Amino acid sequence: MSRIIHTILCMVLLAYVKADSDFPFWEHDQIPVRALSTRNEESIYRLPGDVVPLEYDVYLDLFFAERTDRPFSYDGRVNITIQAVQENVTQIVLHANVDRVRGASLYKNEIPVQLNHTNALIIERQYHFLKVNSLNALVVGENYTLVIEYSSVMNDGPMKRGIWRGWYIDENNIERIYATTHFQPYNARQAFPCWDEPLYKAVFTLHISRPTNYSATFTNTGLDTYDHLDMNFQDRVVEHFLPTPKMSTYLVTFLVSETFKVIANDTSFNPPIRIIGRSNTQGYGDHALNLTVGMTKFFGDYFDMPYESLHKNLYNDHISSPDWASAGTENWGMVSYRELNLIIYPRETIMSVEHYATTLVSHELAHKWFGNLVTCYWWSNTWINEGFASYFGYIASHEVFPQYELHEHFNSRYLQTSLAFDSGSTVPMNNDVNTPSQVTGHFGTISYSKGAAFLRMTVNIISPETFQKACKIFLEDNRLEPVDQYDLYDAFAAAIAEDGSLREYNDFNFTEYYRVWVNEPGYPLLNVDINHSNGEITLTQERFFLNGNTPPTGQIYPIPITYSTKSNTRFRDLKPVSMMSSEIAVIQKSEEEEWVIFNNLQHAHYRVNYDDKTWDLIAEALLNEPETIDHLNRAQIADDVFALMRSERLTYHKGFQILKFLRYESNYHVWTVAISGYTWLRNRLRHLPSQQATFDSFILSYLEHVIETVGYETISNETPTISLTRQEVLQFACNLGHEKCVEESLQWFRRLKNQQWVNPKIRRHVYITGVREGTSEDYTFLLNRFRTSNFANDKLEMLRGLGATKDSELLTEYLDLTLQKEVRSHDKATSFNYALLGNKENANVALEYIKNNIDAIREAYVEDSPANPVQTVLSNLATYLDEPELVDYENWLRTTQRDSLQFNNTINAINNARANIEWGTANADIILSAARDSASIVVTSAIMLLVTTLFTFVL
Ligand SMILES: *[C@@H]1O[C@H](CO)[C@@H](O)[C@H](O)[C@H]1NC(C)=O
Ligand SMILES: *[C@@H]1O[C@H](CO)[C@@H](O)[C@H](O)[C@H]1NC(C)=O
Ligand SMILES: *[C@@H]1O[C@H](CO)[C@@H](O)[C@H](O)[C@H]1NC(C)=O
Ligand SMILES: *[C@@H]1O[C@H](CO)[C@@H](O)[C@H](O)[C@H]1NC(C)=O
Ligand SMILES: [Zn+2]
Repeated sequence: MSRIIHTILCMVLLAYVKADSDFPFWEHDQIPVRALSTRNEESIYRLPGDVVPLEYDVYLDLFFAERTDRPFSYDGRVNITIQAVQENVTQIVLHANVDRVRGASLYKNEIPVQLNHTNALIIERQYHFLKVNSLNALVVGENYTLVIEYSSVMNDGPMKRGIWRGWYIDENNIERIYATTHFQPYNARQAFPCWDEPLYKAVFTLHISRPTNYSATFTNTGLDTYDHLDMNFQDRVVEHFLPTPKMSTYLVTFLVSETFKVIANDTSFNPPIRIIGRSNTQGYGDHALNLTVGMTKFFGDYFDMPYESLHKNLYNDHISSPDWASAGTENWGMVSYRELNLIIYPRETIMSVEHYATTLVSHELAHKWFGNLVTCYWWSNTWINEGFASYFGYIASHEVFPQYELHEHFNSRYLQTSLAFDSGSTVPMNNDVNTPSQVTGHFGTISYSKGAAFLRMTVNIISPETFQKACKIFLEDNRLEPVDQYDLYDAFAAAIAEDGSLREYNDFNFTEYYRVWVNEPGYPLLNVDINHSNGEITLTQERFFLNGNTPPTGQIYPIPITYSTKSNTRFRDLKPVSMMSSEIAVIQKSEEEEWVIFNNLQHAHYRVNYDDKTWDLIAEALLNEPETIDHLNRAQIADDVFALMRSERLTYHKGFQILKFLRYESNYHVWTVAISGYTWLRNRLRHLPSQQATFDSFILSYLEHVIETVGYETISNETPTISLTRQEVLQFACNLGHEKCVEESLQWFRRLKNQQWVNPKIRRHVYITGVREGTSEDYTFLLNRFRTSNFANDKLEMLRGLGATKDSELLTEYLDLTLQKEVRSHDKATSFNYALLGNKENANVALEYIKNNIDAIREAYVEDSPANPVQTVLSNLATYLDEPELVDYENWLRTTQRDSLQFNNTINAINNARANIEWGTANADIILSAARDSASIVVTSAIMLLVTTLFTFVL
C-alpha cells in the first residue's frame, strides 16, 4: 500500500472518529450481544474464519514518561487489508485487547463502506473480540480496508506480555527504560487489533514513532524510511519498516530503548547476524554470536534452505532482554532472550546456564523454519512448532557444538521428563484447546518434551536421512503456510515411500504408529519375560500409569524394539530390530543365561520391566561390570526402577538391590536420575526427622564415590558434562549436610569474601552453603555482591544463595527483597521457592510471610499473568509444611482467602501434601529397610572393588 493512500485513509478516519467520539472500552460491554445464550461452547474463543486478513499496516506512537497525562502509553492505528471468503458476511470478527477502541471504519477502493449504524462496533471483552458490522454483505474475494484507531497502556514488566516496559542499568550506572513486545501465543491483540490465531498469516508493515532521544528501534525487518515529527509532546521520530514475510501475528515484535546497541555481529552474513543488548553488556556477546552463527549455518545446510532465502527483508537479530516472561521467543528476524540465557560469559556464568544457552539458541533458530516459515495451524498442534524446535535444540546443536554432548542430555531434559509427566491423566500431543488458559497450558511438557521424544523415536525407525528428507519436503510444500498433523504426516509418508525406509518391517503400519502417538495420551510399559533355558523372550505391553491401581486401557502402542544382551552388546544400535504392534510378541535370542536390556540408550518413549531372574542378572552386571552397559542405559534402568517402585510394580527391596550399583557410579546421566528419585523419596520423609536422617546417611554413603571422582575443584579443560556432574552432586550433597562438601564450600566462600575469583562452575553450592552456614555478615556480603553484579546469570545464583539463610529475620528480609523490582518479575516465584529449598525450618517463616504479605505478593508477583506466579508460590509452599503448619495454612485460607483465584488449587495442594505425608508414614519402614539391605550386602562388593582398584594401581 502506498503512503498516499494512508494519508487519505487517515483523513477519512479522523473525520469518522470525531463524529463517533472517544468511548472507553467498558461502555461497549453494555451493548447487548446477539446470540450470547448459545455461547457455552469453548470453541467460541475461535474466530469464525469467514473473513481473512492479507496485510497490516500498524502505526504505533510510543510514549514514555514525557507524556505526563498518560505516561507509558501508546496510540495506535491499524489498516488491515481483508477479504471475505464466504458469502453474505456482514460482520467482521477480529481480536482486540486494548484499553480503548476509538473508532473503526471500512473502505473499498478508498471509498468508505457504510457500517450498520445501530451496532457498528461490538466489543466482547471476555473473548477479546471486536466485531464490525457493515450494512451490506462483503463481496467475496474483493479487497477491503478495515481501519481501527485505538489507544492503550504499556504493561509494567514482562509478565502480561503484549507491549510492556522494563528497566536496566547502563554503563554509567544510570537506570534506563526500554519497551518491547512479547506476543506468543495470543498477545498481539494487546498491541493492535488483529486476527490473532496462527493460521491467519499476513504481511505486516510497522510504522513506529518514539521520542528522538531514544535509540533506533529494532524489529523483524530493516528500516525503509524515517521522518521527524513535531507532536504535542516533544521531538519525535517515526520509522517506517520494510514489510515482513507472510507470517502469524504472534511473530511480530519490536524493541525501543534508550541505549540498547549491537554488542557483537558477523557481517559476513547477509543479513548480518547481530547480538543486541543493553549498553553495558558490550564485550559479552561473543559467545552468543558464536552460537547463532553456527546454528544459522547448520540449519541452512540441513534444510537446504539458507536463512537469507526465507525472505529478503528479514533480519537475523538476537536480543538480550533484561526481563522476559519465558526463556526466549522466536519472533521472526528478531529473537528475544531473557538476558541470563544469552549473555554467556564463561568467567562469570554457571555451566548449567552456558549449557542451556546452546540448546536455547538452537531451539529458537530452528523455529525460523519450523514455526515461522511453516506454522502450526492452531495451538492444538503446538507440538509441530515446539517438538521440532526442541528436537533440533539438542540434536542439531550437538552436530555443531559437540563439546556439550547435548544429544545425550536429551534424555534427561526431554525423554525422562515426558515419561514422568505422561504417566498420569494427561493429554495427547494433538489436543483440542480453545480458551487462553488451555492454550497456555498446552505450551508444556507434552508439546515440547513428548513432541521432541516422538520425533527422535521416529528418526530411529525411518533413518536420519529419511527424516531430513521429510523435513525438506514439509518445508518446501508448506512454505509460508499454516500446517496441521496431516501435512506433516504427508511429508513423512512421501519421504518414507521415496527411500523405502520401512521395507524391513513386515506388517508395520506407519499411519497407525503416527496416529497413536500423536492422537493418544500416554505411553507403554514393555514387560519382558525371558525363559533363560531356551532363550525365548515374551513381550507384553500395557499403558503405564504411575498410580499402580489405574485400570488397564487396552491401548496398543506401536513400539520400536531394540535390545542388547551380555553376549551381544549393541547399545549404540538404534534401528529397531522389529516394530511391536500387538499386545504380545515373542522373540528369540541365543540360549545363554545372561542379562538382556531393552530400549537402547533409552531412545524410544517407553519403560521396561523384567521378570525377577532377568532383573537379578541386570543388577549383578550393573554392580560387577557396569562398563559393559552403556551409561545412558544405566540411567534408563535407574529411571525405570524409580518409576516402577512408585507404581508398585517393583518392591522397594528389589528396586534398591538393582540400584546398588549407584555406590560406584559417577556418570552424570545416571546421577541426575538418581538424585531426583532419592529427592522424591526423602521429601516424603520430611515430617519424620530421624527416618529422614537415616535415609540421608544412606544416600550420602552412596554419593562418596561420585564426589571423589569429580572433586571439589574444577580441572582445566574438563568437559561441560563433568562440570555439570559436580554442580548437581555437590549441591545435593551440601544440602544433605555432607561434611566435606560444607567445609570446602565455606573455604571457597571465604575466598570470595577476600575478593578472589571463584570459578562459576562451583559457585552454586558455595553461595548456598556460605549463606546457610554463615552469619548475617555473610548474607550482607552476598547481597551487596548481588546488587553490584552486571551478570544476570550469576545474580540469579546469588539469589538462590541468599534464599538459603537459616536466620528467620534475614529470610524475611530476603522475602521482602523479592517484592522489590531488583528481583525481576520473571524471577519472583522462583526466588520465593529458593527460600524453601534446603532448610526445613524456612517453611514456617515463609508461611508467616505469606499470611502477612499476601496482598503485596499478589501485586508484586503480578497475580493475573498467564504464568500464574501467585498460584505457584501458594501451592508450592504446601509441599514443605508439616501437619500443624498445614492446619494453620488451611485455616488461614478458609477464613481469609475463600474468594481468591488461588483458593481451590491451594486447598488441593494441601491435600496432596497430606497424601505425601501419609505415604511417607506408611512406607518409611519399607524404604529404610530396603536401603539398609542394599547397603549391607554392598560391603562385600566394596571390598572386592577396593581389591580390584589396588590391583589396577599396582599394574
Ligand atoms: C446469501 O444470501 C442470499 C440472499 O439472501 C441467498 O440466496 C444465498 O443462498 C446466501 N448464500 C449463502 C452461502 O448462504
Ligand atoms: C488485494 O490485496 C492484496 C494484498 O495487499 C494484493 O496482493 C492484491 O493485489 C489485492 N487485490 C486487488 C484486486 O487489489
Ligand atoms: C493402517 O492404519 C490406519 C489407521 O491408522 C488404517 O486406516 C489403515 O487401514 C491401516 N493400513 C493397513 C494396511 O492395515
Ligand atoms: C522354558 O523353556 C524350557 C525349554 O524349552 C521349557 O521346558 C520350560 O517349560 C519353559 N519355561 C516356561 C516357564 O515356559
Ligand atoms: Zn519454542
